[in-house]
Amino acid sequence: MLIIVKENYDEMNKEAARLVADRIRRKPNLVLGLATGSTPVGLYKELIRMHKYEGLDFSKVVTFNLDEYIGLPSTHDQSYRYFMDTNLFNHINIQKSNIHLPDGMAKDIDAFCDWYEEQIKKYGGLDLQVLGIGANGHIAFNEPGSSLGSRTRIKTLTEQTIKDNARFFEKLDDVPKFAITMGVGTIMDAKELILLANKANKADAVKASVEGPITAMCPASIIQMHRKAFVIVDKDAASKLSQEYYG
Ligand code: PGA
Repeated sequence: MLIIVKENYDEMNKEAARLVADRIRRKPNLVLGLATGSTPVGLYKELIRMHKYEGLDFSKVVTFNLDEYIGLPSTHDQSYRYFMDTNLFNHINIQKSNIHLPDGMAKDIDAFCDWYEEQIKKYGGLDLQVLGIGANGHIAFNEPGSSLGSRTRIKTLTEQTIKDNARFFEKLDDVPKFAITMGVGTIMDAKELILLANKANKADAVKASVEGPITAMCPASIIQMHRKAFVIVDKDAASKLSQEYYG
């Protein structure tokens, strides 16, 4: 694990974008895992800037997103597809056919989850997966208690997550109760990981993930077992770490 502590959110995003851009330049058909949430928005802005002004070419890049709500069509403004379109895909030269997100409207969810895993394999596996982290240590919709070997599957949202998300919907009842998410095992199979965290409310989760113990009660702690994980954080999110260097 390489822990990279940056002064602020902007610097965190620049560092992460440099790494993503480097991997795309080395391998133009990079298989890139992407995340939603407020954390990666700045990274996506920087990638868009690099595309516009530095010629960063996404024409061969293949993407797989971590998760999607069940029951929301891609046109719904709270779907993760909509989020990805507006925050990244509509502004870069990625081919639509190279974009993959779990299909929240799939008729047979289990069959879809198997298909999604097969697609990732078909492209040779994820080269680089971008991750955010929840204040409770979740990654994607793998909440505390998720099997550390889990694969893409349906998950019930916790009551807390439903409440947290209610602000984006007209009423609590409109918040989706289920999601499709890559499993912890799916994420761990990526050749490289970038975990991003900023703000002090993530400091406990970052400490638990980096300093352990490795436990399903903090799914992000499994990154300690990864061969090549970069944890790029701002100094507020790093404020509870007890060391400067982790090998
Ligand atoms: P956030 O969410 O980026 O909106 O803080 C991160 C996550 O829950 O994975």
